[in-house]
Amino acid sequence: MKTLTDPHGRSFSYLRLSITDICNYRCKYCLPDGYQKTGNTQFLNADEIENLVAGLAGLGLWKVRLTGGEPTVRKDFAEIAARVSSIPGIRRLATTTNGYRLAENAPLWRKAGISAINVSVDSLNRQNFADITGHDHLHKVLDGIKAAQDAGFEKIKVNTVLLRDVNDHELDAFLEWIRNEDISIRFIELMETGSNKEYFQRHHIRGQEIQARLHAMGWLEQAREEGAGPAQEFSHADYRGQIGIIAPYSKDFCNTCNRLRVTAIGDLRLCLFGNGGHSLRYLLQHRNQRDELQATIAGLLVQKAPTHLLHFHQTGTTPHLAALGG
Ligand code: GTP
Ligand code: 5AD
Ligand code: SF4
Repeated sequence: MKTLTDPHGRSFSYLRLSITDICNYRCKYCLPDGYQKTGNTQFLNADEIENLVAGLAGLGLWKVRLTGGEPTVRKDFAEIAARVSSIPGIRRLATTTNGYRLAENAPLWRKAGISAINVSVDSLNRQNFADITGHDHLHKVLDGIKAAQDAGFEKIKVNTVLLRDVNDHELDAFLEWIRNEDISIRFIELMETGSNKEYFQRHHIRGQEIQARLHAMGWLEQAREEGAGPAQEFSHADYRGQIGIIAPYSKDFCNTCNRLRVTAIGDLRLCLFGNGGHSLRYLLQHRNQRDELQATIAGLLVQKAPTHLLHFHQTGTTPHLAALGG
């Protein structure tokens, strides 16, 4: 039987699906020169997306995360969500968003079958947030998080890329925020990409340094659960919320990789880092191509490398994460 496994003992139950590489923000570490077209903006349509996810669900995949760019810039975002969440076998649908449309749409998206939302908040200071993202939207995003809590999503995860001399002085403010809030903040180690090399040199903070700061304040690392995401989780008796650290440069990051990535134009990428993808689009045109789609994907997984090797080379070759769904 065809399954979603690779020769290194990993099985893939989770698809990160980028549905657009367009983003309305201009985060300094992500799109320093502004959004640049990657050439092809003919993103997969809702039918192609449905064919893709149904094919993967037939191989045992049960979780999908819609990413971007900013996935909610698509006018058919709610329709895509509704169609994906109705596919037999799909048990969880999540999205990662910068939150700018969350306040007014949280109930609609919950109704469309999304159950989990990760929201980027890189600063809790209005001016600093605007400097980093290029938009004065902090209050809108925080309102969005409240609206999502009210609409009945799972515990909200907040993504914060911690940057030296940019927002690392805000660590205490972030911790204060979750003293009484049931939110999980994940501090993400800045990843080097083709377009942020200089910024990376100046502002990168290693995951171990963040971890040491948390330990010093009494935060305790939790045991990793089976099938957990890339974050190491920390908790503290005096705080209702949790902290996660996502440190892709740490040596064990890839062992637990359980995800496939498909780009907005339908290329399967076997790793976030590494060049090139394998186009699946021609196999997404009709439902009756499902067998061929499944055989192709199962065959490609045999080529998945054991690790991205970033922690040896310390250089990234990823063009920019916006195009790859973060
Ligand atoms: P859940 O575990 O489902 O909550 O997902 P997540 O934490 O992976 O989702 P999210 O989209 O919020 O991603 C958070 C950060 O993890 C982003 O900076 C991603 O770029 C990074 N990330 C997610 N998956 C991978 C991966 O496979 N490889 C690497 N290197 N980074 C990843
Ligand atoms: N390094 C680390 N995280 C990044 N993100 C985008 N670009 C980078 C990068 N170069 C984060 C965003 C968002 C998540 C999906 O990925 O801030 O929270
Ligand atoms: Fe910022 Fe995400 Fe948009 Fe990149 S894709 S500019 S990180 S909001």
